Amino acid sequence: MHMNKRALVVGNWKMELSHKGALEVFGALQKLIHAKEFAVDIAVCPSYPSLPAIAELARDTSITVGAQNVHEDEKGACTGSVSVGQIRDFVSWCIIGHSEVRAREHDSNESIARKAKILLGHGITPIVCIGETKEQRDGEETLAVLLSQVDILLKNLDRVSIMKTVIAYEPIWAIGSGELPDANSVYEVMLSIRKRISQSLDNELADRVRLLYGGSVQGENVGQYIAGSGVDGVLVGGASTHPRDFFAIISQVATSYAQ
Ligand code: 13P
Repeated sequence: MHMNKRALVVGNWKMELSHKGALEVFGALQKLIHAKEFAVDIAVCPSYPSLPAIAELARDTSITVGAQNVHEDEKGACTGSVSVGQIRDFVSWCIIGHSEVRAREHDSNESIARKAKILLGHGITPIVCIGETKEQRDGEETLAVLLSQVDILLKNLDRVSIMKTVIAYEPIWAIGSGELPDANSVYEVMLSIRKRISQSLDNELADRVRLLYGGSVQGENVGQYIAGSGVDGVLVGGASTHPRDFFAIISQVATSYAQ
């Protein structure tokens, strides 16, 4: 049993859907979910141009909406970027530190902590992605890399903010590759992260932080990560753009998390 906590399933639609496609996927997903009561929080993260329309459709449904990134400054001459003030009317969540963004925009752990702070200040829950590369994994640096990513957050956020923040462990080599970590290694990672957080908070508060797994998640493989392994949900890429696949994942998480 997970006291005071619901599982969370987040769909990261990346750049995969046109605006029309996003509306269609949302509509189909809502139809599937509508008939069921899940004890799971569900979120979808469309690209910026679709946020207002999806937020409108999501009103009065059990699906919530997130953004895929935000700029670390609240204001400024930042051509092509989007600020927290520009998304706050539409989202409850925002993914930050995704490895695709870290690679492209050279986001440092410090700037990710800054983004987390700004989001929390506007009532938006950050979903902070952390993860190791294949080389780091082969060099047995996984835990050191992940904990250093977590440490910067712990250093920069106050206790309440840490408690609210969602941390998503996405091994970079598992993203979009179909390659999966074994459930045991994910369990070890989650345990270490939670232990580290409990050094800043206490056990009870650290327990409330939601830790997600992400990387090649499908309905058929998600159960092993959820049942009894300290994982509170998943961050889903490709499969979340297919309503039936995403629905299968949500159903499986609901079943496995309750065990
Ligand atoms: P895939 O589920 O397509 O592997 O993507 C994972 C991811 O990057 C979610 O943020």
